[in-house]
Amino acid sequence: MDRRIRVNRGQPKAKNDLACLILAAGKGTRMYSKRAKMLHPILGVPLVSYPVERALELCASPIVAVLGFQRAEVEKAVIARHGQGTVTVVEQAEQKGTGHAVGLGLAALRRREETVLILYGDVPLLSRETLTALVKRSRSGGTLAILTAELADPHGYGRVIRDSRGRIAGVVEEKDASEEQRGISEVNAGIYAAPAAFLRQATARLSPRNAQGELYLTDIVAKAASSIGVSSVNVSAEEMAGVNDRQQLVSVEKILCRRIVGDFGKHATFRDPEAVVVEASVTIDQDAEIGRNVVLRGRTRIGAGARIDDGCILTDTEVGAGATLQPYTVATQSCIGPGAKVGPFAHLRPGTELGPEVHVGNFVETKKARLGRGSKANHLTYLGDTIIGEGVNVGAGTITCNYNGYEKRQTIIEDGAFIGSDTQLVAPVRVGKRAVVAAGTTITEDIRDGVLAITRAPLKQVDGYADRVAKRYANKAASKP
Ligand code: UD1
Ligand code: CA
Repeated sequence: MDRRIRVNRGQPKAKNDLACLILAAGKGTRMYSKRAKMLHPILGVPLVSYPVERALELCASPIVAVLGFQRAEVEKAVIARHGQGTVTVVEQAEQKGTGHAVGLGLAALRRREETVLILYGDVPLLSRETLTALVKRSRSGGTLAILTAELADPHGYGRVIRDSRGRIAGVVEEKDASEEQRGISEVNAGIYAAPAAFLRQATARLSPRNAQGELYLTDIVAKAASSIGVSSVNVSAEEMAGVNDRQQLVSVEKILCRRIVGDFGKHATFRDPEAVVVEASVTIDQDAEIGRNVVLRGRTRIGAGARIDDGCILTDTEVGAGATLQPYTVATQSCIGPGAKVGPFAHLRPGTELGPEVHVGNFVETKKARLGRGSKANHLTYLGDTIIGEGVNVGAGTITCNYNGYEKRQTIIEDGAFIGSDTQLVAPVRVGKRAVVAAGTTITEDIRDGVLAITRAPLKQVDGYADRVAKRYANKAASKP
């Protein structure tokens, strides 16, 4: 049974009377995945969100998504990204074909939209300009407007059939096509704009008498040819690319990434534009330099003149102007101040805030750690749940012992303090201003301003030890048979 689960009737009437249906109920068999195809991310964004974003750009209302396979999970992903109520969800429990899906989607409209735009959940690269042109084409002539493309390899797509005068007469699916029809290189992109009234009539009378036993949406093209007329907008093969398998998924991701890098590449230097991943939500300011194999995700912002060396992976991280991230720095939900120097091989975990001119060096891990202006932790250190003032030097091998097995506890190191190498700070603990902690010290209580803190077992030197041991082993070897 098909079940209509939620229909938003309270939305304000959109100015342009454009509704959008997004067909996204299919399983995506060719993905060979446990997860619905619509949930697979492209540059960090689930596939289903791409058409939703286009529909929002066109101010379509309502936006109706027809979901089926893993409906609840896909709906959750849509709400997480676009907010509750932005998209109306209709369930197609059994995937009886694209025509059936549109029929269900139409039932969720408010019966006052004039034009309906139909998008496929698995066609993510369409531009706003193309879709605007398609809607315009349908409106100007009251026709069914379809998106078509000339493909060198049309295999798998529905072919566009034209009559002797070159007018579109219908679309034939690959599986139903004759040998001759398969030779046609003009294909149906599967994207349409049409008067709502026509769609209602045409989809009510579809028949499953075809090779796949489905209700084909493509059959409405022939119906329009003999009634309201068909018009078309041509797009490039790249723009209409569908995601049916994993290979297509990554090739679409590459195309999107190339576009983003191309935009930033006008004012920032990418050492190897093909070898970076930059998500659409990232911003990169003037004169930034981005090395090879860099990955920038989420709400990452790269400030003017910052340098991000090879292999850095940044997620939701802000990099201040002129900061340098040396190779293989990994940072998540962190903030790096202007002029700071980080890495190589540093790991900044969520809640790290580095002030201006801070240095964090190799094999240093930070988490919920704030370092004030000019402070340094250059080697082999863990700083967790820590607040560090300005001008502090943290020696090599320093560890904040922030966890007692039950809870996380805080370390505070005040301005100008000097923490010697191999210090353990057993939290909660505070080191006062300009205090000096001797190398190898274990700090278990608060340290007053300006003092020297030292815990160290007295050093003993045993004379003649090396010779004595050497002799003992030499004798042992001699006495062996
Ligand atoms: C469809 C077109 C084909 C076109 C191609 C372009 C039909 C019959 N064929 O073929 O002419 O060249 O797209 O990419 O329309 N879906 C549902 N419910 C269903 C069936 C499909 O929601 O019952 C959704 C899918 O999740 C997908 C979209 O509709 O997002 C297209 O379905 P798919 O099975 O991929 O159609 P194609 O075989 O690619
Ligand atoms: Ca498809």
